[in-house]
Amino acid sequence: MNIYNIVDDRQSVRDYHDKEVPVALIEKVLTYALRAPSGGNLQPWNIHVVNGDSINRLKATMHSRLNNADAAEQPEYDIYPPNLKSPYRERRFQIGEALYGQLGIPRKDKAARQAWFLRNFEFFGAPMGLFFTIDRSMGSPQWSDLGMIMQTIMLLLKAEGLDSCAQECWALYPNTVGKFLKLEEEQMLFAGMAVGYGNYENPVNRLKTERADMGEVVTFYG
Ligand SMILES: Cc1cc2nc3c(=O)[nH]c(=O)nc-3n(C[C@H](O)[C@H](O)[C@H](O)COP(=O)(O)O)c2cc1C
Repeated sequence: MNIYNIVDDRQSVRDYHDKEVPVALIEKVLTYALRAPSGGNLQPWNIHVVNGDSINRLKATMHSRLNNADAAEQPEYDIYPPNLKSPYRERRFQIGEALYGQLGIPRKDKAARQAWFLRNFEFFGAPMGLFFTIDRSMGSPQWSDLGMIMQTIMLLLKAEGLDSCAQECWALYPNTVGKFLKLEEEQMLFAGMAVGYGNYENPVNRLKTERADMGEVVTFYG
């Protein structure tokens, strides 16, 4: 696969086969991904690999946490700006519609939508999860470095025949995840990532998401 095919083939995968990811494979991917660039070469990322027994324990912990009436926690950050403006609001709405349409869940079925959303906290059935944390003293330039390494990991995983889904929803439960990972107070949870072998029988994994036309987002200066 060349790099263009890999970029084009990567997609967010939200259903996985029950097939373990060899530790040697994730070690190889991370070894190369750590070559990702970062401003000032700060390499501000901390990556936590949750696998085997530990992912099962985390899924069980999240299950009981989510069934607890007091489950809400103070999120690490606002995932989206308040009053998301146009055209971002429409793009977000569109992906929601496309995803739930693919799953056959009608817009008004809030309970089914919520149940599906909670699958996030089972890593959509993936056998491996990653978490990305960063020192709280870092600002938005360093947060963007996290995006660099996350995409590098997702592309390398694809090159190895593996699938993934970045998951910022984990930032809604920083206390539970922080306690589980034994994070130091100064570590901020940015996102999780499901990793595994995608089940392409599930229509949810057959969604090819849209992108804005180049003219909307790129300006050429001749
Ligand atoms: C930083 C980041 C966080 C994301 N968080 C979530 C998430 O919490 N749950 C989810 O289902 N998808 C999540 N996504 C996936 C996006 O919805 C997805 O990338 C986007 O709709 C484009 O689709 P594609 O990845 O299939 O190309 C996230 C993506 C990124 C880059």
